[in-house]
Amino acid sequence: MSDQGESEVELEARLAEGESFDPPASFVEQANVADEDIYEEFEENWPECWEQAADLLTWEEEYDQVLDDSDEPFYEWFTDGKLNASANCLDRHLDERGDETAIEWIGELGETRSYTYQELHDEVNEFAAALREMGVEEDDVVTMYMPMIPELPIAMLACARIGAPHSVVFAGFSADALATRMNSADSEYLVTCDGYYRRGDPLNHKNKADEGLEDVEQDVTTVVVDRLGDDLDHDLGDSQHDWDDLVEAQAGASVEPVTRDAEDMLFLMYTSGTTGEPKGVKHTTGGYLSWVSWTSQSVLDIKPEDTYWCSADIGWITGHSYIVYGPLALGTTSVMYEGTPDYPEKDRLWQIVDDYDVTQLYTAPTAIRAFMKWGEEYPEKHDLSSLRLLGTVGEPINPRAWKWYYTHIGNEECPVVDTWWQTETGGMMVTTIPGVAEMKPGSAGPALPGVSAKVVDGNGDEVDPGEAGYLVVDKPWPGMLRTLYKNDERFIEEYWQEYSDPDEDEWVYFPEDGAKIDEDGYITVLGRVDDVINVSGHRLGTMELESAVVGVEGVAEAAIVGGKHDIKGEAVYAYVITEDGYEGGEDLRERIIEGVEDAIGPIARPEEVVFTEDLPKTRSGKIMRRLLENIANGEELGNTSTLRNPDIVSEIQSKVSND
Ligand code: WTA
Repeated sequence: MSDQGESEVELEARLAEGESFDPPASFVEQANVADEDIYEEFEENWPECWEQAADLLTWEEEYDQVLDDSDEPFYEWFTDGKLNASANCLDRHLDERGDETAIEWIGELGETRSYTYQELHDEVNEFAAALREMGVEEDDVVTMYMPMIPELPIAMLACARIGAPHSVVFAGFSADALATRMNSADSEYLVTCDGYYRRGDPLNHKNKADEGLEDVEQDVTTVVVDRLGDDLDHDLGDSQHDWDDLVEAQAGASVEPVTRDAEDMLFLMYTSGTTGEPKGVKHTTGGYLSWVSWTSQSVLDIKPEDTYWCSADIGWITGHSYIVYGPLALGTTSVMYEGTPDYPEKDRLWQIVDDYDVTQLYTAPTAIRAFMKWGEEYPEKHDLSSLRLLGTVGEPINPRAWKWYYTHIGNEECPVVDTWWQTETGGMMVTTIPGVAEMKPGSAGPALPGVSAKVVDGNGDEVDPGEAGYLVVDKPWPGMLRTLYKNDERFIEEYWQEYSDPDEDEWVYFPEDGAKIDEDGYITVLGRVDDVINVSGHRLGTMELESAVVGVEGVAEAAIVGGKHDIKGEAVYAYVITEDGYEGGEDLRERIIEGVEDAIGPIARPEEVVFTEDLPKTRSGKIMRRLLENIANGEELGNTSTLRNPDIVSEIQSKVSND
């Protein structure tokens, strides 16, 4: 416990009263944004206010128009502007910061690699030349299926350099998930690796990649990084190349950054939605890069001399925006850690903060809950005084976890930014500007300046403060997704149908989250209102999960819901009806778990599989998921009288262990 700060008891009392915390004066004094007028200025000067974001970038040709809304909701930003993302993240820093560290990489076994901007630039150029040599052309989608190794951001920036959009698939996803995404994107190139370490053991990744490739419809050329050396042998098949060989052949190569239009696609990122098919979210070069740069600067308070660390995985949007593009565009040092927080010991993260004098830490509530459980003795072993700001993302953070983070990691001297955003929004949307606004634990904060987020009821009318409703955004923003890859129709259906009124030319974006708002405009995000569950900050579609379970031999029908979990936030609960002739026993349970891991990956592993004769259904045959959630959470059940089969509820209840 800190002795400079207020006592835990006082802090607890303030939290209980829902009180707010002012940002520390020492932080405000040096903050990138410390003028509260920014909110009003941006409102009055919208959309031109976003020139401030665009000004953080180097443009080859100036844009004509900040926002083109002539074809709503297909908004365009910074139209006719020309730029290259890799030149913005690398080349423009070389004169002044060429010898400063761009990426500080820490491997799971403790090995380290450090890249200066010059070195990163050179490696990116060589790999860009190698991609060209392989036949990659502008606008070809290159898939990456890689863990947290430096070759991943190198490959991403190399793609950006030659104008080839990347599509990164999280390494923890299964072979099936890789194949689905490659097929959907028509991707003919894959960059992957032989394997990686998990808790010290080598893990074969290439087998999974090869298995996925068998189901890819088009011919694929693959690059394989040799991460494990002698710890794991691997063979290269036809059309498979070794990364080192390719790069050696291009030693010293220089590739002119391709001039991209602001609206040209920078990357695709697949995410889960209501239906089974993952959604290919399209982000652009100008709007996205401006957005992540501006939010990195104003919310994460990044300065070039910082050593900033986002502990997410680059396989998710957080890593794209806040490990790679935002921090590098601002010319700072971005830390990248390969491993898990508890290997070899539970103080691994704090050891890294201490060793590297990390100035900002951006992590997820699920990690904070795990740290809390492990105890404060782990951070206490280390000097964390280099930290200036803390951030969280991915799911709501409860006030107790907020307080623990604020006290035991931040020593009550660091503002905590709880940032709400999504794959689709490209970057942060709702959070406090740490040099300006007070913090209210449990609430993400007000919408960022220039962002028009509201909480509405089912009719689209704003709810009163304190009442639950739906979060919507009723003005466009530069970092927004432009469409779903090759599926404009689904883009409109998924995000714009619910609350827009096209006849009135009113376009409202619906993120599918529930929320509350208070008198000060602070938004508390309550969680998804669609069929998506959030496991350890990872979005999983229940439809995808259900189709995986139903695909297992012996399963007749299945319903998946999220149940509350102390560490993961939510966990997967599977309710399963067996086919005639099959027993709902241990063997089937294992095959179901395996089926889910094969279809999606270990992160989706069901916490509990409950076999049942029937599922609670309405008279029209719709599964009552809400009841199944109540059961998973050991909660009071709502009204069951409208069910076709009310008796099944207590039967299922008796089978679920609420420990
Ligand atoms: C949830 C991750 C509460 C939300 C960047 C959203 C949050 C989904 C927060 C997006 C937060 C993210 N408070 N909920 N600070 N941040 N979420 O696309 O439900 O992986 O819709 O993007 O995570 O998840 P995604």
